Amino acid sequence: MLNFTMNNQKRIPAIAFGTWRLPDCPETVQTILNAIREGYRSIDTAAKYGNERSVGAAIRQSPVAREELFIATKLRNTQRGYDSTLRDFDRALTEMGLEYIDLYMIHWPASADFYDNWEQINADTWRAMERLHDEGLIRSLGVSNFTQRYLDALKKTANIAPAVNQISLHPGIYQNQQSLIEYCTGHGYLLTAYSPLGAGAVLQSDSICSIAEKYGKSPAQICLKWCLQHGIIPLPKSSTVERMRQNLDLFDFTLDKEDMHLIDHMANLGSEPRNPDNCDFD
Ligand SMILES: NC(=O)c1ccc[n+]([C@@H]2O[C@H](COP(=O)([O-])OP(=O)(O)OC[C@H]3O[C@@H](n4cnc5c(N)ncnc54)[C@H](OP(=O)(O)O)[C@@H]3O)[C@@H](O)[C@H]2O)c1
Repeated sequence: MLNFTMNNQKRIPAIAFGTWRLPDCPETVQTILNAIREGYRSIDTAAKYGNERSVGAAIRQSPVAREELFIATKLRNTQRGYDSTLRDFDRALTEMGLEYIDLYMIHWPASADFYDNWEQINADTWRAMERLHDEGLIRSLGVSNFTQRYLDALKKTANIAPAVNQISLHPGIYQNQQSLIEYCTGHGYLLTAYSPLGAGAVLQSDSICSIAEKYGKSPAQICLKWCLQHGIIPLPKSSTVERMRQNLDLFDFTLDKEDMHLIDHMANLGSEPRNPDNCDFD
């Protein structure tokens, strides 16, 4: 598996396996074991997904050594703040049965429209994560769904810069995200793309389908390769082994400049990325 290097010089696999909507159950343990067997070395979960136990069980059962796997999870939004972050991280680590997490992220910033003291909440959360990092329990710190406003605010108090910002990205919303992508890249924050296959509509788009035909690849492979060529790590989720395999089979073709440009400028077919300024969830 190809790796990217983060701003802390640690390596991160170029493709991750997404686990949102996989329930906490033995079938999910098997799905993750299948993904590891197919070659995924990076797994993305979150407290909010409610499946950290199954993800942890799969990692412990996997024949692949722990240090060859890259495990990311995210703080639940109800647990932001210094003490509650420490507590919820401890819960996650215990439920997963792991000794450390490779990448721990704030799932969603405390939003300016919802909390008067949003800057303080995010700063306190980050300070707790820095402590866990210094104790060796987290290898890299990251954020998710942070726009420039939240990254700028965090910068004022952070001692450790975020290594990663995980954002919504798929063909059709590149132009919405372009300034954030340029900002993150300029500041050395590696981007990972969630929902890289978008809503089903993206995979059925005529433009994506005709590009897929030209390269002899599937529409999903075009979406994922487009991310990689932007230097962004895609996090596709699939429950089926055939699709897991397909979503890793991206290294025998390159999208040409014209096709990259075409995909960058595709009209949006799904929903706009949500903005933390006016959106909050638990
Ligand atoms: N940080 C955040 O706020 C946030 C938000 C959303 C998601 N995420 C992360 O990002 C991951 C991916 O996002 P996502 O789950 O929303 O969506 P996604 O990966 O863009 O799409 C998943 C859907 O595409 C289907 N699919 C997968 N591979 C395919 C292929 N080769 N051909 C056709 N269909 C295919 C899957 O069906 P099957 O399973 O049936 O194959 C599933 O219905 C999540 O699992 C999660 O880890 C993070």
